[in-house]
Amino acid sequence: MKETIFITGATGFLGSYLLRKLLHYKNHTIGNIIALSRGETQKETERRVRQSLWGQLPLRQKRGLISLLEVVRGDIAKENLGLSKAAYNRIIKKVTIIYHSAAICEFGVPLPVIRKTNVDGTRNVLELALACKKQGGFKRFHHISTVAVAGDRKGVFYENELDLGQKFNNTYEQSKFEAEKMGERYRDKGLPITTYRPSIIVGDSSTGYTNNFKMLYQPLHLFCMELYKEIPASGNTFFSFVPVDYTAEAIIRISLDNCAGNHSVYHITNPNETNFGYFLDMACKYFKFRKPVLTPGEKFSFEKYTPLQIELLKPFIPYFNYKVRFDASNAQKILKKTNFKWPKVNAQFLRRLFKFCVKSGFIRRKRK
Ligand SMILES: NC(=O)c1ccc[n+]([C@@H]2O[C@H](COP(=O)([O-])OP(=O)(O)OC[C@H]3O[C@@H](n4cnc5c(N)ncnc54)[C@H](OP(=O)(O)O)[C@@H]3O)[C@@H](O)[C@H]2O)c1
Repeated sequence: MKETIFITGATGFLGSYLLRKLLHYKNHTIGNIIALSRGETQKETERRVRQSLWGQLPLRQKRGLISLLEVVRGDIAKENLGLSKAAYNRIIKKVTIIYHSAAICEFGVPLPVIRKTNVDGTRNVLELALACKKQGGFKRFHHISTVAVAGDRKGVFYENELDLGQKFNNTYEQSKFEAEKMGERYRDKGLPITTYRPSIIVGDSSTGYTNNFKMLYQPLHLFCMELYKEIPASGNTFFSFVPVDYTAEAIIRISLDNCAGNHSVYHITNPNETNFGYFLDMACKYFKFRKPVLTPGEKFSFEKYTPLQIELLKPFIPYFNYKVRFDASNAQKILKKTNFKWPKVNAQFLRRLFKFCVKSGFIRRKRK
């Protein structure tokens, strides 16, 4: 029997690629796909989902796909996902697999606000899964989390680890940690849950495309504006960049593997790591900005900067000094079976990302 998929976050950066990959697999193992998204009206909701999907699709693939996809208007932060009783009941009768990708992915959002979406919202989607399970037929809840649940942990963080008494650098990390803890409670209730923890998701490996200039892209923008002569950072800090297309493919491949249920958590990280120093050198060369001096945190003083400069830079400092590495043995084992190979993060790869920043107008390249 073919599966009926329910997906959240389909208008998002990763979610739109997950949806695209699922549509690609549709004829093989998947029957129907239902995407829950926000919008003022049903029409606008459908337009938003299609727009984020169509942007990445070649024309010949666009035709016919509309009929394969059902879009429902909802909001994960609301009870019953903001769906009518009739829509909720109809969905729980047919859904066999859930991919939950929706979240607020920003630093600096007050905890009660981000919790409403990332924690309560996850609980609402888990409740839907539980209701699906009660109907029979439900197979698995695929939860998109993040390696950032490791917080300020130092050393190696394993896939089977979660609560190690770590502290969090921001409310995003904390809320995603709490969402995973919430998932554990539902796993104890017998709900089959697989969790995926991607590292730093960057633009498409072949085009550099992103619809989300958050996370890594924000400090890059600050450096290009030459706002800082010196920053508290270590050039040796390891970065694991995972291009969005590879990330979605890895998640889908693991989720469709018969052995996926053997483990509950998979780290979606690129073993071809790079470091902050190399990234900064390449960015500096491409965008022609003055490279900030990297100073160890204990020797650095913020005194020379204005409150605004400090406010803009501070959220990213922990990531320039990250002391944790992510073991991804479970994920690599399954991906190796399917001949999946992560791309090398070299100058050519980074140039593609940078080029898209310029093409999209996000960053202006200096003429020197
Ligand atoms: N980006 C990264 O580097 C990264 C790294 C590791 C893990 N992750 C994880 O990957 C997942 C996807 O992230 P992303 O980068 O794709 O984020 P994104 O581009 O910001 O997309 C977030 C998605 O969540 C939806 N959403 C937010 N609040 C919602 C609500 N109340 N009800 C329904 N939908 C809601 C958004 O819908 P609207 O369009 O309506 O706002 C959007 O579709 C997240 O769980 C994130 O924690 C991301």
